[in-house]
Amino acid sequence: MTDDANSMWGGRFAAGPDAIMEAINASIGFDQRLAAQDIEGSRAHAAMLAATGILSDSDAKAIREGLLTVLSEIESGSFQFSTALEDIHMNVEARLKDLIGEPAGRLHTGRSRNDQVATDFRLWVRGQCDAAISGIRALQKALVGQAEAGADWVMPGFTHLQTAQPVTWGHHMMAYVEMLGRDASRFEDARNRMNESPLGAAALAGTSFPIDREMTAKALGFDRPMANSLDAVADRDFALEFLSASAICAMHLSRFAEELVIWSSAQFRFVAMSDRFSTGSSIMPQKKNPDAAELVRAKIGRILGATVGLFTVMKGLPLTYSKDMQEDKEQVFDAADSLMLALAAMEGMVRDMSANPEALRSAASSGFSTATDLADWLVREAGLPFRDAHHVTGRLVAMAEDAGIDLPDLTLDQMKSAHDAITDDVFTVLGVDNSVASRTSYGGTAPEQVRAQIARWKEALT
Ligand code: ARG
Repeated sequence: MTDDANSMWGGRFAAGPDAIMEAINASIGFDQRLAAQDIEGSRAHAAMLAATGILSDSDAKAIREGLLTVLSEIESGSFQFSTALEDIHMNVEARLKDLIGEPAGRLHTGRSRNDQVATDFRLWVRGQCDAAISGIRALQKALVGQAEAGADWVMPGFTHLQTAQPVTWGHHMMAYVEMLGRDASRFEDARNRMNESPLGAAALAGTSFPIDREMTAKALGFDRPMANSLDAVADRDFALEFLSASAICAMHLSRFAEELVIWSSAQFRFVAMSDRFSTGSSIMPQKKNPDAAELVRAKIGRILGATVGLFTVMKGLPLTYSKDMQEDKEQVFDAADSLMLALAAMEGMVRDMSANPEALRSAASSGFSTATDLADWLVREAGLPFRDAHHVTGRLVAMAEDAGIDLPDLTLDQMKSAHDAITDDVFTVLGVDNSVASRTSYGGTAPEQVRAQIARWKEALT
């Protein structure tokens, strides 16, 4: 081994790596984010090596304490990361050697960087599942707050972005609470599935040392050790599940963000975004732009990009570890950062925004939004088949449209000209309040239904 060769694995090497080799090979530029998990894993491993008699107690103690010193150096920013040492694992171990000398070289007994990195990354992604769940819960609480304030504020419900039927503001907010509830449960599922320890799989085949994998699994908060050492070092499905759940959640956030962009426009005025989550224009003084919502709308791009990226890295890789898998981290880091930021921004926007009940109501009252109520009345009170009722109502809509008025403004005579079974009673269903109040089916938009769902979620979110 020359002086240039890598001190961690350079025994058979006569020369050190080319500069380009070092550049393409090193991951320390990004995997230093795994420092805390790496040290946690190494401390658990050292304690286990001592408990099983593979390492002396005094060596294990020196290692465990030295690792804490390394961690504090990294956390304080004084640690010198070295590209020549490739990755976080070797940077930490080399520094440990500076600090404690010979026992540092015993830490890697019965272990490989392959199970080490799989463990570190699992721990990190598991933490991000927890962070995503708490970000989602905070956003859900903000949405429930909005829903509670406006459980009976009438607004247009849309299909095709055309006015469909009146709904309530609370109902619309609670739709996102439901979607986010499923998002959180996806992160919970993924977390449960990934919570098995790869540590002790060693390079790929396990080890001849009498290690105790249950012990390290427990110390790291895993439910159990992974049952197949090849699988343990080869798979990254846990990261793919995290990314997939993130992409779905980001898609939901993107839809909501799009609604906030539309709703805050001068043409809609359904909501006013707070100054704290808006920006101005450097040329147009009147502008207040919903930039935060637009950026949340866009984040799905990089999150889905990361998802596709990692699938592409992993597809076709023969078992077990290949260096390709070092490319698993950066995009996951970026996707996780993007998701957490998007959730936090959305929570802030929702908490701060103020809905405009008058604008919501007046929009709900236009566009013949109670036409379905009229058709339903004809079915219920006049005994018409729904298809006929639909037709009669269509004629009345055309009549109102020609006259430039809304359905409740038609006279009884005009109504009767479309069908003579219509009576005065029809006007009781035509107002938007009557319309929403009548939709009492489970999960419907009637304020009593909406309040029941709010109560259920408030309980669940405490
Ligand atoms: N930096 C590597 C990674 O991120 C660690 C594992 C290296 N293992 C190896 N056999 N070279 O994947």
